[in-house]
Amino acid sequence: MAHLISPSFLSADFGNLEKEINILNNNQADWFHLDIMDGVFVPNITFGMPVISYIKKHAKKPLDVHLMIIQPEKYIKDFKKAGADILTVHYEACTHLHRTIQEIKLADMQAGVSLNPHTPVNVLEDIIQELDLVLIMSVNPGFGGQTFIENSYKKIKQLKKLIIETKSNALIEVDGGVDNTNAAKLVDAGVNVLVAGSYIFKSENPSDRIIKLKSLEF
Ligand code: DX5
Ligand code: ZN
Repeated sequence: MAHLISPSFLSADFGNLEKEINILNNNQADWFHLDIMDGVFVPNITFGMPVISYIKKHAKKPLDVHLMIIQPEKYIKDFKKAGADILTVHYEACTHLHRTIQEIKLADMQAGVSLNPHTPVNVLEDIIQELDLVLIMSVNPGFGGQTFIENSYKKIKQLKKLIIETKSNALIEVDGGVDNTNAAKLVDAGVNVLVAGSYIFKSENPSDRIIKLKSLEF
């Protein structure tokens, strides 16, 4: 399978959301990556249901919603209602992760789990077969524009091995500091979905950056 591109709206211009949405509708972006932060799980606050619903109304591609919130199980139905297609929760934020994953699937969304940089891949051994996606954080969650953590390659390779061994269908997504210097190497290591925020939206020509991430020619 060719790798997918999921541009992160965190670095988009929120004063002109419709323009940013249309950029993604009209280029090779595959998903819309939406970062939801609560100011508790991470030291930053972003946006909630009204903004997701607005994006859903205009987006022609699936919404890949990355929850950086505590107690995400409380809001599963609300995120579905707002328009999430893929819902990713953090391992570190879920006491009953298995139950939360089942509830996401029951709500008719794809279920993902994200790991912070300090969380080892092997904590997913007993749940990997239930997952549609694993999101490896290659920065500490909370902000765009941070430096990629090199140890992420090792984790991606370990995760790829676990997925093959268990015959899991989970896709591997990587998020944080993705740019021209590491994208090809990440896909080579086994990544299926590249998230990129500042590399795309802080550029003069976001579409060109998406083409580059898709073709891996820089
Ligand atoms: C960080 C978010 C990311 C962020 C990535 O907590 O999960 O999705 O937008 O931004 P860049 O690509 O700038 O590191
Ligand atoms: Zn994210």
